[in-house]
Amino acid sequence: MISTALFERLVAAASRAPSADNMQAWAFTPVGDGVEVRLEPSRVLPTDVNQMFAWVGLGAAVENLVIAASKEGIAATVDYPPALALQAAATTSLDAAVTVRLTHGGREDPLAAWIESRETNRARYDESPLEAATLDELSHATGEREAGVHWVSGAAGLDLMARMDARSTYIRLEHRPLHDELFDILRFSRRELEQKRFGLEFEGIGVPYALVRFARLLRYPSVMKLVSRLGIGRAVARHLAAKLQAAGAVCLVTARIAGPVGYVEAGRAMERLWLEATARGLAVQPHGVLPQYLTKLDVEPDGFTPHFAEVMRRHREPFAALFPCLPDERPAIVLRVGRAGSRPARHTVRLPLEQVIRVSEAAQR
Ligand SMILES: Cc1cc2nc3c(=O)[nH]c(=O)nc-3n(C[C@H](O)[C@H](O)[C@H](O)COP(=O)(O)O)c2cc1C
Repeated sequence: MISTALFERLVAAASRAPSADNMQAWAFTPVGDGVEVRLEPSRVLPTDVNQMFAWVGLGAAVENLVIAASKEGIAATVDYPPALALQAAATTSLDAAVTVRLTHGGREDPLAAWIESRETNRARYDESPLEAATLDELSHATGEREAGVHWVSGAAGLDLMARMDARSTYIRLEHRPLHDELFDILRFSRRELEQKRFGLEFEGIGVPYALVRFARLLRYPSVMKLVSRLGIGRAVARHLAAKLQAAGAVCLVTARIAGPVGYVEAGRAMERLWLEATARGLAVQPHGVLPQYLTKLDVEPDGFTPHFAEVMRRHREPFAALFPCLPDERPAIVLRVGRAGSRPARHTVRLPLEQVIRVSEAAQR
């Protein structure tokens, strides 16, 4: 049986993983000589199509757990329940668990040293392209996962990615259900953030802090309508996306198999690549909206207004031209990678361990 102290150390490392909008939609249960990792439904965003982002985040947490175990002299293997592997994502039971089995032995993974300092860096990066050898090494760091890593570098490709990202971000700002959800999880004040300890810190997303009072007002439809008419939403979206143009390189991480297991594998690959980038002093920022909305267009096109569905439809062809691996692979997450002159002022918050640990009823008896 895994000791409580070891279990908590592994959960603490797993919880340092990135998650979309810092929702930390995961829960950990000790079972025999292992740990079960499941989604926490209350923190899965309702608009997250097929729960793809929640599974990607869970995959990153699983990978951190595996790597942290190696530091304790423990070898870990990851088992996917057949139900998760086979199920079409839309019908997934949110309660299915990924099991990390732990046995003594194995070598320490050098990436363990970087779990604590990995972070999302939303600064503008240096425009100089990353060398092809560096990109190969970052891809190589993902190991034997059922995931693909496909790089875009060069001005034309980055410019196209930035334009598609800007239009997708604009939809998130302007389409009512997506906009309302964003405002539910944005934490405008430090106090609110400390109370909830999950959700997106406004201060960290790259909009000048002086705009916080104004941004709060955007929650109200009448203000949003006015802002929309003035073209401010488009300008903000362009401002956020423009950083993609100045990246050292951008990659698309894909799931090579359908359903949740594919996204978990993509999340594990993303985390390994990100830790390797951190070890090399490189900065990383995920750009999630484009893969998310292209998937939404396929799975639930009614999730958009006809106008926004058309905007996304126009991205299909150029996106597929940049990434010929599609449609055999499924887009999971876009990462901007490069050299940054500055780092975030502090670490993003996490939930206390007791809120992500779920002890089974049998174990409590
Ligand atoms: C699936 C996924 C999608 C994400 N999408 C975005 C994004 O579109 N823009 C962004 O700035 N950060 C994005 N992030 C980064 C998260 O906001 C970040 O991981 C979280 O706030 C925790 O912060 P940290 O990575 O610094 O620990 C994403 C992360 C994941 C795992």
